[in-house]
Amino acid sequence: MIHKYPIHVLITVSVLLFALLTYLAATEPDRLVQAQQLQNGRNIEQGAMLYSLNCRTCHGLRGEGVGQLGPALGDAHFFEERLAEVGWQSTLEEYIIATTEHGRLMGTRPIYAGNGSTAVMSPWHQKFGGPLRSDEIRTIADFILNWEKTAEGSVVLVELELPKSHPQDPAVIRRGAAVFDLHCSRCHRYGNRAAHEIEGPDLTRILSVAGTRRADLEAADYLRESVLIPNAYIVDGYQALAAQNGCGAVLTESELTAVSGFLMH
Ligand code: HEC
Ligand code: HEC
Repeated sequence: MIHKYPIHVLITVSVLLFALLTYLAATEPDRLVQAQQLQNGRNIEQGAMLYSLNCRTCHGLRGEGVGQLGPALGDAHFFEERLAEVGWQSTLEEYIIATTEHGRLMGTRPIYAGNGSTAVMSPWHQKFGGPLRSDEIRTIADFILNWEKTAEGSVVLVELELPKSHPQDPAVIRRGAAVFDLHCSRCHRYGNRAAHEIEGPDLTRILSVAGTRRADLEAADYLRESVLIPNAYIVDGYQALAAQNGCGAVLTESELTAVSGFLMH
């Protein structure tokens, strides 16, 4: 067959082939990195879904922890100090995976002590009777590790695309009052709504100070932060309480907006 083609055609084809191969070889690492990033993104997405189904009730929507149910997994303490505190020699990723797989029989902190006969966190891996596979637990760990960026206390409050409900809208304020009664009145007084369990700061006049608490946050963002990351700012005289309780509540975005609207009306 070959003898049918003049030599210069064969040479041109070889040169083109060589150029193509060189190009492919040079761009291969780029495409590997892109594929890797895409895969990471998918893992984190799947991890987010599994986390929301299995973990958020105790560890919070954003890893902020939920009262005495479960500790924070998204704060600076978890990323910077926790391994040293428990004497774990390997990586944080391995710590998350191991803890999740095996669960925890006894709490390592008094408020999660349990009653000694039931685990404070049951095992999650199928080989210990839990519902999850190894690869699923790994994606949850990826998702949790992704919080490191926001864990250093400098949280950027992302503007979500939501139908703008006006904070002064009476319906929003009424909804906010209901959220307050359900999730906050346990610890906070507001006007004639008295705190009935734990004494947190009186929020009746929170509007007069909310905008001054943190240099970089406006009143509305400070109120949101107080709920999402209670320890970002500790009100004078409340340190000890905050460490154990804080305001960590699992609220939806619209509940959070409504309760801020209520506090600011
Ligand atoms: C029923 C409540 C509950 C659920 C649901 C739960 N956890 Fe936990 N988790 C806890 C408690 C309580 C602790 C132990 C606190 C301690 O030891 O002081 C804990 C500890 C942890 C720790 C170690 C935290 C630390 O500071 O040492 C990790 C990691 C963790 N859980 C991950 C998960 C993941 C992932 C899921 C979902 C698959 C999950 N948990 C579901 C209650 C829960
Ligand atoms: C378990 C008790 C508890 C619950 C429930 C609670 N908080 Fe708090 N809150 C506190 C404590 C204690 C402080 C003071 C320590 C601190 O600043 O972290 C505080 C501080 C605050 C502050 C800062 C006050 C200031 O003067 O700067 C705001 C705002 C706040 N909470 C809002 C809320 C909202 C809104 C809810 C309901 C979604 C809520 N809290 C639920 C205990 C609680």
